[in-house]
Amino acid sequence: MQVQVGSRILGVSEMPDVKMLNVTKTFDKGRIVAVDHVDLFVHDKEYLTLLGPSGCGKTTTLRMVAGLVEPDEGEIYIGEGRVSGLPPEDRDIGYVFQQYALFPHMDVWDNVTYGPLVKGWNEKKSEGIGREMLELVRLYERTDAFPRELSGGMQQRIALARALAAGAKLLLLDEPLGALDAKIRNELRYELRKLVKDLELTAIHVTHDQGEAMAISDRIAVMRKGKILQVGTPQELYMKPQHLFVAHFIGESNFLEGYVSKVTKKETVIELRGGLMVRTLDKTHKEDDKVVIAVRPEVLTIEKGKKEGVNSLFGQVEKFRFEGTNTRCEIRFENGDSAVVVRPALMTEWLDVGEKVTVSFPVEKSFVFPYPKRGLREELTLE
Ligand SMILES: Nc1ncnc2c1ncn2[C@@H]1O[C@H](COP(=O)(O)OP(=O)(O)OP(=O)(O)O)[C@@H](O)[C@H]1O
Ligand SMILES: [Mg+2]
Repeated sequence: MQVQVGSRILGVSEMPDVKMLNVTKTFDKGRIVAVDHVDLFVHDKEYLTLLGPSGCGKTTTLRMVAGLVEPDEGEIYIGEGRVSGLPPEDRDIGYVFQQYALFPHMDVWDNVTYGPLVKGWNEKKSEGIGREMLELVRLYERTDAFPRELSGGMQQRIALARALAAGAKLLLLDEPLGALDAKIRNELRYELRKLVKDLELTAIHVTHDQGEAMAISDRIAVMRKGKILQVGTPQELYMKPQHLFVAHFIGESNFLEGYVSKVTKKETVIELRGGLMVRTLDKTHKEDDKVVIAVRPEVLTIEKGKKEGVNSLFGQVEKFRFEGTNTRCEIRFENGDSAVVVRPALMTEWLDVGEKVTVSFPVEKSFVFPYPKRGLREELTLE
């Protein structure tokens, strides 16, 4: 398909990479900043996820790419062409809405084959695609049902089939698995990714579920309060969070507050409350800086009794839970700080509440961030 954009002819479906440059969208006369100066590049055939807590601006970002909302500022390109002002129907996009928005007066079959027929594809081709997509979401046997007769999860699968059937190379998915049961959701994640890869589509997927984002994406953009904090592969975000909130939102972290007490060529020593010292390889802070150390629960080791060693903190067990694959243990240290330790259950000794233990972590396994201006607790809230 070709689209006239100003003086340029744009083959949208040929090159569905997406660029957002300095894009801002406010509502309520500027009082709500839904999307705040966002830059985002999505490569051709990439599976990119916008991940962030409720209200952070994910849907608004997606709607601007689709042309359903016009930005106040900034520019959006699909392929070579700037799409500002271009109506949604000319952007050649498959869209799955957060509230699956099926046509209520059409049965499943008509919903799914609507796009192909509108595009003028012949009946045989439209039927073939309709069947393929419905089999894919495992609802081919429900072609005669109307949306009201289906569960939320089924409607979501139909919405996905309908978006795919229209044949667009750019797929925008707003919480497409949100209404499904956990088990189907996990299965469909992999199928959805495989499908996007097999069909060589570009996908922008919105979710607030970090597990889903990690499993499905080539790259994830972590959003918060209208801004993108970090974009990276799941591994990059997990191994090298560049922001306190990313360390909190991707995976899990323990946070310990302290001051930098000594910086040497080899390491940075940080003093926690109560004079406890820990060593890190941080290179970004200087003496007396107030900092927060983040340590993943699965990086911590735990031993009974009081042991001396590097980054060994003494404390007692406050909670101990068996969770199947892992055990989860909450420790209160002698300085009043606490941490969660997660260990593979098969490798863990049972610990009783009140048991005295030593928790340790390797110097290279922590992240050090500047102490946030508005306080740690505020910085980590999901609002
Ligand atoms: N049409 C609108 N009018 C006024 N405010 C809006 C409108 N659309 C979105 N907002 C506000 O913009 C902010 C971002 O909303 P958005 O729907 O993009 O968030 P989201 O990340 O998709 O959240 P969720 O995970 O809950 O779907 C919110 O504060 C929301 O209330
Ligand atoms: Mg939303």
